[in-house]
Amino acid sequence: MVETLNIEINKVAESRLSQVDFNNIQFGKIYSDHMFRADYDQGEWKRPKIEPYGYLPISPANQTLHYGVSIFEGMKAYKHQDGSVALFRPLENQKRLNRSAERLCMPDLPEDIFMEGLTRLMQLDKNWVPNLPDTALYIRPFMFSSEEYVGIKISEQFTFLIITSPVGAYYTNPLKVKIEMEFARAVKGGTGYAKAAGNYAGALYPSKLAQQQGYQQLIWTDGQEHKYIEEAGTMNLFFVINDTLVTPELTDTFLPGITRDSIIKLSKHLGFKIEERKITVEEVVDALKSKTMTEAFGVGTAATLTSISHIGYKGTDYEMPNSAGGYFSSQLQNNLEDIKTGKIVDPFGWIHKIT
Ligand code: COI
Repeated sequence: MVETLNIEINKVAESRLSQVDFNNIQFGKIYSDHMFRADYDQGEWKRPKIEPYGYLPISPANQTLHYGVSIFEGMKAYKHQDGSVALFRPLENQKRLNRSAERLCMPDLPEDIFMEGLTRLMQLDKNWVPNLPDTALYIRPFMFSSEEYVGIKISEQFTFLIITSPVGAYYTNPLKVKIEMEFARAVKGGTGYAKAAGNYAGALYPSKLAQQQGYQQLIWTDGQEHKYIEEAGTMNLFFVINDTLVTPELTDTFLPGITRDSIIKLSKHLGFKIEERKITVEEVVDALKSKTMTEAFGVGTAATLTSISHIGYKGTDYEMPNSAGGYFSSQLQNNLEDIKTGKIVDPFGWIHKIT
C-alpha cells in the first residue's frame, strides 16, 4: 500500500520475543513489542506513532475512567505456510469501530490511519504471529477519551491505540451456557450494537452469578420481555434445528459480529440451509426438549467457533445431542480456519495480506 501518513517510528531496543513460549500461550497475557498510537485534539488526528508497548500516563480526572468513553475492536492475523502474514477482513473492523464511535460521540477514525497503522505494526511485529494450530496474533484496536475533565460532556481529546497479543484458544472446551431471564445486557435504543467497553462491564455481575451456578457463559435475551434470543457476550449464536442453521437477525441490541457475517456467507457457499430471523426462547427450549436441536455454537474473533454442550433454562440443563460439535459446526469451523490460514482458496476476498 502507498504510505501517506509519515508515521513516527520508535523501535524497542531489544525484542521480548525470545522470552515467549509459543507452545504455551494463554489468551491475552502477552503483548508484542510495539503499539500504534494516534491522538485526536482540536478537531484533527495528529501525526501517528509506533512506539514500544508500554504503560500510559493517565490523569485521575480522565473522562474514560469516570464515564466509560471507550470502544474497541478485535481481529486476528495468521501466519500462512509461505511465511506471509494475513489479516481477516480488517476493513470491517474499521467500519464497525466508526459505528461505535458515532454512538459514543467519538471522532471518526479514517481508513488510512487504521490500515497504515495496522500494516506498519504488522510489518514490525510479524515474528510475533504464531503458526501453531489454533493460534493467531490477536489485534486489539481501541479508542478512548484522553481528556482531563470530570464534568459530563462530549470529549474533545481522544487516543486510538492498536496493541497485539499472540493467543491460543479463548475457550478450550465446549461451553455450558444459561439463558438469562432476569438481567439485561442491552435494550432497544441503547448501546448494545456498539463495541462499547461499558456493555462488557455491565455483563460481569450476571455472568458471575451464572458461573456460581456452574455455567461458563450467558445467552442474553431481549431486555424488554426476555422473549427473544440475542447473543452470548463474547460470541454470536447459531443453532441447528431440523438440519437448518438459525441465527438471531440483527437488532440494535447486540453486536453485528464479523465472524457471524462470515459464518452466514460461508454457510450459503457450502449449500447449508440458513435462516436469519427472530428466535424465541420458547422455540429454543422446545427444540431442546424434542431434540430437534442437534447443535449449538457461538462464533467470534476471540472464540472462533465454540460448541455449546449444555443449555440451562429456569433450573433445567439440556444436553445437546452433539455436545462436542457436529457436522455443521465442524464443517464451518474447518473451512473458516482453512481460509484464514491460507490452506484453501478464499472465495470471498476476505484475506488481506501484509506485504
Ligand atoms: C473478540 O472476539 O474479539 C472480542 O472482542 C470478544 C472479547 C470479549 C474477547
